[in-house]
Amino acid sequence: MSKTPVRVAVTGAAGQIGYSLLFRIASGEMLGKDQPVILQLLDLPQAQKACQGVIMELDDCAFPLLAGVFATDDPDTAFKDADICLLVGARPRGPGMERSELLNVNGAIFTVQGKSIAEHAKEGVKVLVVGNPANTNAYIARQAAIKVGRTNPANYHGMLRLDHNRALSMVAAKAGRPVDSLRKMAVWGNHSPTMYADYRFCTVDGQSVKSMINDEAWNNDVFQPAVAKRGAAIIEARGLSSAASAANAAVCHIRDWVLGTDDWVTMGVPSDGSYGIPEGIIFGFPCECKNGSYKIVQGLEIDAYSQEKLNKTLKELQDEAEAVKSLL
Ligand code: NAD
Ligand code: LMR
Repeated sequence: MSKTPVRVAVTGAAGQIGYSLLFRIASGEMLGKDQPVILQLLDLPQAQKACQGVIMELDDCAFPLLAGVFATDDPDTAFKDADICLLVGARPRGPGMERSELLNVNGAIFTVQGKSIAEHAKEGVKVLVVGNPANTNAYIARQAAIKVGRTNPANYHGMLRLDHNRALSMVAAKAGRPVDSLRKMAVWGNHSPTMYADYRFCTVDGQSVKSMINDEAWNNDVFQPAVAKRGAAIIEARGLSSAASAANAAVCHIRDWVLGTDDWVTMGVPSDGSYGIPEGIIFGFPCECKNGSYKIVQGLEIDAYSQEKLNKTLKELQDEAEAVKSLL
């Protein structure tokens, strides 16, 4: 092993997303097949025994890239010197709930963890919040981290990659083209039913997918609600929220951020004021990644339909930010 191991902290390690995620990180799918990793697992005291079981299974895979693994219930220990933090640990919703209803139970986790990351992780740490409501939890963690200083406030993200991948898959099926031939998908806003899955810029082999599909009723009445409510549909079908696809989305988000990509990817990032979204709101934007950093794709036309959608999802995020004011 020639490269220095990358330290990856994963919270909620004993949960169902953790069970899909850890093995893929250890096998090199997230950071590359030549990049050793050290996994630093955080979960609650009552989940430590289950974490030990997961560690036993990681050992039993004999992953060549797994240079170390430990579990703890102490955030400061879990985040010590971390290069990447995947904040998964939080309660999932059940049937009939909206993700925003989780703010009361999950919000407080992220003040503690944002502060701990800023105090103990590497200065260049990259943080991805998966636990719901992901945008506002990332907002809470970022605000707590900013109070400490030291880490880069641009590196606190919320996960919208699952929505991006869902949108890609649905548009590819509608267009009758392979999913990996599609380029330039965007999902704007909140990881909630107000998100706006925007395929206006999508191309296949340089051709516009929108003109290929040419069906506004499908966009409005089928595609938009299907992407927005896919999480609820999975809960309804499985009795549990999505896990393998969520873990896959986290792997994709970090892989593209670290290793770069030649396509647009949707990331929930702190707004820099782009497209009129107030600074600091964690908003899904189309991004391009290169050399370990990302930038929001600029200059896209926002037509009246899209502006209305952006306004709606922004308003929801602003209301969520208002609701967590006391935690900041
Ligand atoms: P789960 O209940 O199976 O596991 C959650 C784990 O987190 C448990 O092991 C629990 O002990 C742990 N945990 C709880 N509080 C913690 C804390 N303070 N510190 C560390 N660990 C803690 O849930 P899951 O299915 O793995 O889902 C986890 C979260 O991810 C949920 O909030 C879910 O809604 C969310 N999620 C988000 C997306 C997305 O696209 N953003 C997709 C799927 C699920
Ligand atoms: C999803 O989109 O599948 C997750 O956010 C889980 C949920 O509660 O919908």
